Amino acid sequence: MPVLAFESVHFRYGDQTAGLADCSLHFEAGSRNALLGANGSGKTTLLLHAAGLLRPEAGRLMLDGVPLDYSRAGLHALRRRVGLVFQNPDNQLFGATIAEDVSFGPLNLGLDAPTVEARVHAALAVVGLSALAGAPVNQLSFGQKKRVCIAGVLAMQPDLLLLDEPMAGLDPAMQAEMQALLERLSAAGVSIVLATHDIDFAYAWADALHVLAAGRCIASFPASALPAHTARLQAAGQPLPGVLRLETALSARGIAVPPLRSLDALITHLSPSSGPSNRATGDGRPQENP
Ligand SMILES: Nc1ncnc2c1ncn2[C@@H]1O[C@H](COP(=O)(O)OP(=O)(O)OP(=O)(O)O)[C@@H](O)[C@H]1O
Ligand SMILES: [Mg+2]
Repeated sequence: MPVLAFESVHFRYGDQTAGLADCSLHFEAGSRNALLGANGSGKTTLLLHAAGLLRPEAGRLMLDGVPLDYSRAGLHALRRRVGLVFQNPDNQLFGATIAEDVSFGPLNLGLDAPTVEARVHAALAVVGLSALAGAPVNQLSFGQKKRVCIAGVLAMQPDLLLLDEPMAGLDPAMQAEMQALLERLSAAGVSIVLATHDIDFAYAWADALHVLAAGRCIASFPASALPAHTARLQAAGQPLPGVLRLETALSARGIAVPPLRSLDALITHLSPSSGPSNRATGDGRPQENP
C-alpha cells in the first residue's frame, strides 16, 4: 500500500500561480522516490503538501490510505511521522546552538528530557556533528547547516522523510556521505522522497521516478524503466542520465553492456580487472563485439 498518495491535488499561490494542477502520484511504503522537473514545476510545492504545510484547494492527500487530517491533533500526529528537510537551511534553523536546534523537534513532541538528549546525541552522530554540538548555528558553513537540518528531522524519527534538493550546495565528499546516510535510512525502512535536478543521482539511487511539469505529475515509473520513458523526460526538459547516453553510444559501436544505472557501475563493468564478463582489452580500449 502507498504510504502517501496525492489524488488530483490543485493548489494556487495567491489567486494566480498554479503550484500544483491536477497532481496525482503515490509513494510506496519503504521506497526511494525522486521528484524530477524543471524550475517551477512544483516539486517544492508538492513536498510542502506532503508535510502538511500547504493544504490542497481541491483533491486530497492520503496517508496510509486515510485522508490527511488538518486539525491541530492531526497535524501533530503527521509531524511525528513525516519529516521535511528544506532546500535552504536558513529557512529551517532557529536554535542558538546546534544541539538546541536539533532538540527543538523532539521537545515539541513532548518527549522527556533523557529521551530528547539521547535522540539529539544519536542524530548528531549520524550527520557527523557530535563534536560541534555546542557551536553557534550562525557560524556554520552551508553544508554544516544542511546537516544540522537533517539531524533535526532525524531526531523526530520520521518514517517518511522528505528532502528538497539534499545534494545541492554540498561538496563531493559530503554528497557521498549524504548518499550513504540515505542508504542507511532506507535500509532501516524509512520511505524517502527527494526533489533533485541531478538525474544521474536519481537514476542510480531511486526505486521510482516522478516527473513534474507545470504542477502536474506527467509520469511515474520504476527507475529501472527509465530507458522506456526518455521522451517524457525530454518533454519535461530533463537531460538523460550520462550512463544511459554512454550505453547507447557503446551499443551503436556494437559494444553490448548490461543496463547499468551508474557510471561507476559501468566503469567497473568495462574495466580490465572486473572479471570474465568484462569486454575491455588489456590496453583499456573496449573490444568490438564478435
Ligand atoms: N511563495 C510563493 N508565492 C507565489 N508563487 C510561488 C511561491 N512558491 C512557488 N511559487 C510558484 O509555484 C510554482 C511551483 O514552484 P515550486 O517552488 O514548487 O517549483 P520547484 O519545482 O520546486 O522549482 P525549483 O526547481 O526551482 O526549486 C512556480 O510557478 C512558482 O513560481
Ligand atoms: Mg524547489
